[in-house]
Amino acid sequence: MNKIIEIHRRSIENPSEFWAEAAEGIDWDSRWDKVLDDSNPPIYRWFSGGRLNTCHNALDRHVANGRGDQAAIIYDSPVTGSQRTISYTELRDEVALFAGALVKNGVKQGDRVIIYMPMIPEAVVAVLACARIGAVHSVVFGGFAPNELATRIDDATPKAIVSASCGIEPSRIVEYKPLLDQALDLAKHKPKCCIILQRAQLEAELVPPHDIDWQDAVASATPQDCVPVSATDPLYLLYTSGTTGQPKGIVRDNGGHAVALHWTMKNIYGVEPGEVYWAASDIGWVVGHSYIIYGPLLHGNTTILFEGKPVGTPDAGAFWRVASEHKVATLFTAPTAFRAIRQQDPNGDFIPKYDLSSLRALFLAGERCDPDTLHWAEEKLGIPVIDHWWQTETGWSIAANCLGIELAPVKPGSVGRAAPGWEVRALDEGGKDVAPGDVGAIACKLPLPPGTLPGLWNAEDRFRSSYLETFPGYYETGDAGFIDEDGYIFVMSRTDDVINVAGHRLSTGAIEEVLASHEDVAECAVIGAADPMKGQLPVGFLVLKAGAEHDPEEIVADVVQMVRDQVGPVAVFKKAVVVDRLPKTRSGKVLRATMRKIADSEEYKVPATIEDPQVLGEVESALKTLGYAGTGK
Ligand code: COA
Ligand code: AMP
Repeated sequence: MNKIIEIHRRSIENPSEFWAEAAEGIDWDSRWDKVLDDSNPPIYRWFSGGRLNTCHNALDRHVANGRGDQAAIIYDSPVTGSQRTISYTELRDEVALFAGALVKNGVKQGDRVIIYMPMIPEAVVAVLACARIGAVHSVVFGGFAPNELATRIDDATPKAIVSASCGIEPSRIVEYKPLLDQALDLAKHKPKCCIILQRAQLEAELVPPHDIDWQDAVASATPQDCVPVSATDPLYLLYTSGTTGQPKGIVRDNGGHAVALHWTMKNIYGVEPGEVYWAASDIGWVVGHSYIIYGPLLHGNTTILFEGKPVGTPDAGAFWRVASEHKVATLFTAPTAFRAIRQQDPNGDFIPKYDLSSLRALFLAGERCDPDTLHWAEEKLGIPVIDHWWQTETGWSIAANCLGIELAPVKPGSVGRAAPGWEVRALDEGGKDVAPGDVGAIACKLPLPPGTLPGLWNAEDRFRSSYLETFPGYYETGDAGFIDEDGYIFVMSRTDDVINVAGHRLSTGAIEEVLASHEDVAECAVIGAADPMKGQLPVGFLVLKAGAEHDPEEIVADVVQMVRDQVGPVAVFKKAVVVDRLPKTRSGKVLRATMRKIADSEEYKVPATIEDPQVLGEVESALKTLGYAGTGK
């Protein structure tokens, strides 16, 4: 491991030199004044004074350098039975034209544009068109309900929204337009227009002049050139769950982001320009932003845009079909996808049906990877399986086995050592390092490397209080875990009320807000209980008002539907139970962590501050009725 240890040491001892070298991989319109601007700690900026355009770096320069005919995107859509290959030249031209459509509809540099679209090439076109003209995109995942979209509309105050008539889930067609219209009704902010792509599977009813058909918008548009922006200007906002119902608008800059992502392609993932890279995620998540769109395109790779699922489209061999058909070199997905595949194909019988000789590595992230799933994937695929750890906030991995530098031994259950640029510690409550192997709060020494969040959109105080104040001089990740004697990091759980459902990060607070709004609910709590397939699933506890109007079963059915309608199907909120009271401390804090341990049949200590220990027995009985707490389901 000497090579990676040496590179990591250099990145920490002299970050400016290290990242200035990496910045040579990017085209700059004008170079930076300072690589690391540390004039205002604990807020840091990378490449301040520099100017560049991210879209130029992702498209135009590759065309200029002879990659014009190479596939930029391979769109593979089992749900529509279609495929399309788009070359770098074609993608540049489509992006330049759609940028023209945005400009014609009043979008200027610095304006926000919300993109609410399924996994189709036009979503990537819209994202890159924003980057081309210096507008700030904010992609909202299609599985969120109108209420969540409305919250983001009000926070980002977009000039325009780009959407499609529908998304396609294996079981149903998701009509986007009514969801969008509901969100616009709920939101206080009114964007100037909505540009809607009509898909053949279902056409939306458009109401002009506010709704504009994508085809009409581009028909009269003039292609736009790339606009150089400051390295520190925002490229995008991506909302993620915090502890409250109000999501956090993570800001990503242009310069640091381009430098870091370009660097990771070779050094972490070990791919060369021209190779095919596949992140089987969704463009609505950070993995989709970084490794379906920006990373591969900045590096001159071919990216796969897969509109399907690991199972059911049509079977558990879908990943292997795509990997072999398009000669994928590196696959990146969430452990839950592998658990789904394994459940349907426990012996891996689909795998040998395909030629996977091009596939060199599998990367996993998004949630804890249980060693069992890791071993299964290793054994069935016979290639390195690398769990790596990151967050929406960081944009790329905090810890990883850097395949492109040197493959270090894999320790099951660990996300590997800190990646270059990252100094990771496990701290006790007083901010002191805990001993190797002891669990602590995982924090990263400031400054964070390029590509990480410079702040939260319009919320600097929240940025400081959420991440920078608990451990001065550190970024608080919100994850807990331990670091062993060899520097391997084990991420075990969250320290806050964020849960992880099928690799999707959700706030229990947001679900509780919905439950609390039911007319018969006096009090409620939501915990994330372990689930063998999705990692965690939310479970609700309801205390009813005296004289509640409806039966408990009716109320449970109501709240399940309300969460689906107001947070979205992606929350997979299906289980709730009525209890007489919630376990609380004497100061009134609900003991969610203890409730979770009871659900997962883990050992727990009765908290000394508990108001009435008997309530824990009542919680256990309630959980048993749902199939948790030692019932073995
Ligand atoms: N638009 C609308 N609805 C969506 C959606 C979208 N983009 N994505 C998911 N949903 C809906 C699904 O249809 C489902 O609804 P249902 O209750 O009507 O069945 C619900 O949200 C839950 O979806 P999902 O979590 O995808 O569950 P699933 O049972 O359909 O599939 C997996 C299970 C494991 C295959 C799936 O969760 C998966 O592929 N996970 C990988 C996650 C991932 O890539 N994470 C990114 C981090 S790397
Ligand atoms: P998100 O911001 O949605 O990407 O979620 C980030 C969170 O997912 C992290 O803070 C972790 O809690 C969890 N996470 C992501 N990757 C891993 C991993 N490889 N191992 C354990 N937890 C992970």
